[in-house]
Amino acid sequence: MAETLLLTNIGQLLTMRGPVPRRGRSLADAGLVKDAAVLVQNGRIAAAGTRRNVERLQRARRARKIDLGGRVLLPGLVDSHTHLVFAASRVAEYEMRIAGASYEEIARSGGGIRASVRKLRAMPAAALERQALGRLGQFAAHGTTTVEAKSGYGLDLASELKILRVQRSLARKQPLEIVSTFLGAHVVPPEYARRRRAYVEIVARQMIPMVARYGLAEFCDVFCDRGAFSVEEARQILTAGRACGLEPRLHAEQLARTGAARLAVELCVASADHLDRVTPGDIKLLAKSSVVCTLLPGASLHLGVPFAPGRALVDAGAIVALATDFNPGTSPTLSLPMAMSLACDGMRLRPAEAIAAATVNAAYSLRRHDRIGTIEVGKQADLSAFDVADYREIPYYFGVHLAWLTIKRGQILYARDPKQA
Ligand code: NIG
Ligand code: FE
Repeated sequence: MAETLLLTNIGQLLTMRGPVPRRGRSLADAGLVKDAAVLVQNGRIAAAGTRRNVERLQRARRARKIDLGGRVLLPGLVDSHTHLVFAASRVAEYEMRIAGASYEEIARSGGGIRASVRKLRAMPAAALERQALGRLGQFAAHGTTTVEAKSGYGLDLASELKILRVQRSLARKQPLEIVSTFLGAHVVPPEYARRRRAYVEIVARQMIPMVARYGLAEFCDVFCDRGAFSVEEARQILTAGRACGLEPRLHAEQLARTGAARLAVELCVASADHLDRVTPGDIKLLAKSSVVCTLLPGASLHLGVPFAPGRALVDAGAIVALATDFNPGTSPTLSLPMAMSLACDGMRLRPAEAIAAATVNAAYSLRRHDRIGTIEVGKQADLSAFDVADYREIPYYFGVHLAWLTIKRGQILYARDPKQA
């Protein structure tokens, strides 16, 4: 069991206490406490508040003390959209895009997701796991304590199961929490290029029941977009997933406006992600629904396309979350603080809104809001400290590594200052 810790001399504690999920104006409620302390016992938050109130507790006196030196403490960051397990970067495509080729042109000529699929199928599980383990260490070093991870570079039963088993193995042997999503419908694999109907049937009738039977995923996702799957195909696959107990999520309106956001509302999916191309009508519909709108500005930046209308979604009252979309094709960053900078600079979210989107609302989209996403007594002690005196400096210093201490269930995962490790 993790030791008892007293985190004290916290300049700003952002508890993120308040209604869950956050919408509209309440997205900026950070529950800020100045000159604060947090007591961690048995992997949970035992007390959180002003330094005076926490330090005078009996239990606090016996705890190991960590002095934050006036720094900022947040709930552990929750990355609710990643493609964690892949075989290799696609850096050659990156250079082709810089020279003018588009993402979709590269995909049509056999690159893109299909190139990642070829490499992943050829790589043994142990090698995939080693690489993903290294990446999880980097997530923790950027303040992230929970990572959603999608399959989708296998696209045949054996390879999809290989990815999901790697994720399960990682969830058991390292401390970050991994939430698995089945994305067998990422694109139609080359061997089914002329028989896409057959592939959709295989995903819906063979892969999903198997994934569910082995308990390998909680969610089912579809890349519903031009060049991937249609709205009708996505409806069939997500409905089949739900029937097997996999809650739906959806890649929606990224490359083209297809009507995927409407489908997300119709099916009341846990999260509709990307939304770069939503119309004002889509925004209205999403805002009235309980679908989380997960913004992925890293992908827009990397593809050189306009950002999703984050400000308009928040102002309309939608539930907005923020994630990295970490993947080798469109968003090779695993830094949520970087995603926050892009959300603030590119979508005009306020710093407190970006933080709420990457903590409490992201936790809600993963259905873990009762345990993570805020700093409250009884919740899991998932905490991230940053080397700044004002929380707004986290997005402000874009691209600067500021994570200082990352704690998962009371266990220190990352400490920039070796004295704290
Ligand atoms: O979220 N949009 C679909 N999937 C990824 C891209 C994956 C890739 O290019 O490898 C995304 O952007
Ligand atoms: Fe994605």
